Amino acid sequence: MRVIAVMNQKGGVGKTTTTLNLSHALALEGQKVLMLDMDPQGHLGSCFSVNTDNSSGMDEVLLDGKEIAEVIQEVRDNLFLIPAGARLGEIETRPQNSDAASQSRMGYQLYDAMSALPENEYDFILVDCPPASGLLAMNAILACEEFVVPVTGDYLALQGLSRLIKVVTHIEQVLEKNTRKWFVVTRYQKQRKLAQQIRSKLVSYFPDQVFETAIRENVSLAESPGFAKTIFEYKPRSNGAEDYRQLAIDLLENRTLH
Ligand SMILES: Nc1ncnc2c1ncn2[C@@H]1O[C@H](COP(=O)(O)OP(=O)(O)O)[C@@H](O)[C@H]1O
Ligand SMILES: [Mg+2]
Repeated sequence: MRVIAVMNQKGGVGKTTTTLNLSHALALEGQKVLMLDMDPQGHLGSCFSVNTDNSSGMDEVLLDGKEIAEVIQEVRDNLFLIPAGARLGEIETRPQNSDAASQSRMGYQLYDAMSALPENEYDFILVDCPPASGLLAMNAILACEEFVVPVTGDYLALQGLSRLIKVVTHIEQVLEKNTRKWFVVTRYQKQRKLAQQIRSKLVSYFPDQVFETAIRENVSLAESPGFAKTIFEYKPRSNGAEDYRQLAIDLLENRTLH
């Protein structure tokens, strides 16, 4: 079982788009996939017309100690979802116990909840992270062994990245845990020189960690959630569908650039 956080503290870089379409691509390849929404905005659920406000979800697991198995919904063949739930944001704001032991435990709530899942029940778990670096993101970092980091082809994208890598590296050192990081360039516009530069810079900073496939800018990817469809249902012959199909193979076969 591979447990992967789709993470970047920057918003609008394609985390949710990647979680949903990469997950469906993997499911179509015959993998059993669970998607988990750790963003209180609940966008992942909306993409499957699951209304996060009326659904049991991660909020009840993390706030009320509900069994994780009870909040899993099957949304497609081989594809399962845990919605965020209406109260997930309360995790960040509720008063915390001040002793150090219970504080450090706060970061392990997702890890603890997930350890109740039967081993190897799923081939992949993909966690859609919030665009922030608070307690929810910390829970995702501590529960996952791999990170897929979507990066857009603009200059500011690289600035935020170094902070994210610092946080993850620091946690790795403290926990003596080794994680795998994958970068994927999203909203890629080949004809833009800047986008090409950012991509090669990324490869030089992170050799063998940038996926071969870049996700091109494709309007169908932005439209499909409005129809509660993944790209494979909405426009299976679009560039977006082709790119996410290839990205799934990158992930399955470790195809990276160096
Ligand atoms: N490759 C792409 N081409 C066109 N639009 C995209 C692409 N990837 C994401 N988008 C759009 O960009 C916006 C932000 O994407 P989203 O996945 O919600 O980012 P995040 O989850 O990181 O905040 C959404 O409107 C989405 O539909
Ligand atoms: Mg999102």
